[in-house]
Amino acid sequence: MKVKKVVIPAAGLGTRFLPSTKAQPKEMLNIFDKPSIQYIVEEAVNAGIEDILIILGRDKKSIEDHFDKSYELEDKLKEKGNKKLLEGIEEISNLGNIHYIRQKEPLGLGHAIYCAKSFVGNEPFAVILGDDIVKSKKPCIQQLIEKYEELDSTIIGVQEVDRKDVNKYGIVKGKKLSDRLYKVEDLVEKPKIEEAPSNVAIIGRYVISPTIFDILENTEPGAGNEIQLTDGLKELSKIEDVYSYIFEGKRYDVGNKFGFLQATVEFALEDEELGKAFNEYLKNIIK
Ligand code: G1P
Repeated sequence: MKVKKVVIPAAGLGTRFLPSTKAQPKEMLNIFDKPSIQYIVEEAVNAGIEDILIILGRDKKSIEDHFDKSYELEDKLKEKGNKKLLEGIEEISNLGNIHYIRQKEPLGLGHAIYCAKSFVGNEPFAVILGDDIVKSKKPCIQQLIEKYEELDSTIIGVQEVDRKDVNKYGIVKGKKLSDRLYKVEDLVEKPKIEEAPSNVAIIGRYVISPTIFDILENTEPGAGNEIQLTDGLKELSKIEDVYSYIFEGKRYDVGNKFGFLQATVEFALEDEELGKAFNEYLKNIIK
């Protein structure tokens, strides 16, 4: 079955970026020249997704404004004859059909995904988490969608991480089927380092069968006392096939300050206009 919908949870509080996130959503923090959530929406659109659902929490209105049409601004740019900027601004409001829903209480990622039940209906759907930005030739979620369509089964995007970091992730134990593809045998959310079944971590990209909604409805809070998507996927793997796929691409964890800086610096270095000068600047200050 074709994957046409994506769910993007954006309901987190952004405590790691306080005070910047005191009055603005963490998804609107700027990475080089655009808010982080725009990278995520663009990935979905570039992968051919038609309908995008963003799950919002409180105080996230600026996300809706960002993807909305901005008449006053467009008029001003037209008046000034600033064609390039105008096109960029118009593009943002034409990025697919974006829908919004509110997660009324921050009960966890599993609960946020459950809020998408009526939007998704009885079709497979993609999930992209905003803390993971992936730079790749083929959009990361497209790699997973293609695998989903081949296998007709839930597939989770993974990469290996340092052993010392396994307690920050959902960890997957799988049986190797081919170079990048594994059949999932066990899943555990944020295990203790000594108890982790592997160092293969879930990296914020999934294509999931709609059966997950029946499971999430009854999933009890797990790690961090939150309803965990990983726990739901573990239950799903007992009744349907679930695979994991080591996707191609470089992933930036923009949910922490170091990853955020790495993405900002690397994206700036690649910019056509500023990259070269910025490179020189960095070389000079690091000497
Ligand atoms: C979430 C998921 C976790 C996954 C991680 C990837 O955790 O629950 O399984 O490994 O995203 O970034 P969070 O970082 O939101 O606590």
